[in-house]
Amino acid sequence: MNYRHAFHAGNHADVFKHIVLTRLIALMSRKEQPFAYIDTHAGLGLYDLNGDQATRTGEWLEGIARLWQATDRPALTDDYVKVINRLNTEGELRYYPGSPELARRLMRQQDRVLLNEKHPQDGQLLKDNMKKDPRVAVHLGEGWHVPRALLPVAEKRAVMLIDPPFEQLDELQRCAKAMKETIGRMRQTVAAIWYPIKDDSRALKRFYQELTSSGAPKLLRVELLVHSLDTPQSLNGSGLVISNPPWGLEEELNTLMPWLANLLGQSQGGWKMDWLIAE
Ligand SMILES: C[S@@+](CC[C@H](N)C(=O)[O-])C[C@H]1O[C@@H](n2cnc3c(N)ncnc32)[C@H](O)[C@@H]1O
Repeated sequence: MNYRHAFHAGNHADVFKHIVLTRLIALMSRKEQPFAYIDTHAGLGLYDLNGDQATRTGEWLEGIARLWQATDRPALTDDYVKVINRLNTEGELRYYPGSPELARRLMRQQDRVLLNEKHPQDGQLLKDNMKKDPRVAVHLGEGWHVPRALLPVAEKRAVMLIDPPFEQLDELQRCAKAMKETIGRMRQTVAAIWYPIKDDSRALKRFYQELTSSGAPKLLRVELLVHSLDTPQSLNGSGLVISNPPWGLEEELNTLMPWLANLLGQSQGGWKMDWLIAE
């Protein structure tokens, strides 16, 4: 396990993934009934952008730093920015929330936050960062076991983020398998898989095909590019595939994505959204 998210925290992929996550939480919160947030590969929860790892790559300068300076932010980014503001009370951008911290800060008293991280050191930092919040449980185990271990949840409503590091060649396949298991164990789960886009690869095409046989009632795909696909960059963009997207999400993304593509585009920004499984 070489991957450490601290090198990448707040980059364009994080901004995209995390804004969508905040919208999933907001849309799920329209109903009073509690829900669980589950993070299979949770990371540290909180990142210091002035720390050694973030400083070495400077990836956040093309991500959250751009959003922080934007003067035309859509209201749909308010929840996301609210959390970042609370972490940076001096007005200067220094701390960046990972998915666990966003969920912890935005979820209600009746909800639960179930986090899993395998890296022992990062897992301990995650525990510390969650500040003994009684709604939060941190597991230090294998992320691929999470759907089987935790689903179905007692609440019968869940948002799950499947966000592995993509260090291993088979991780797209593992994601598709995790989606299948998730739907098999709790059909109504709102599960979001994040994946990197480097080029128009055969592996991605196979991934999409496998997802179409996941058994999910509905599956929305949304992708954000910061370079064109033929650019020899390590990360030209990223995508999210979301099962059972809450009503209203597609419309919100139609507002958010053009703005994000314009904000985060480097040599060439772009986005697309379609249904891998329509109702
Ligand atoms: C992309 S990062 C997660 C970022 C986080 N979800 C966020 O959005 O803030 C992936 C994390 O998965 C952890 N990891 C790697 N292999 C894992 C495994 N097999 N099971 C669980 N966690 C794993 C890494 O240590 C890393 O912290």
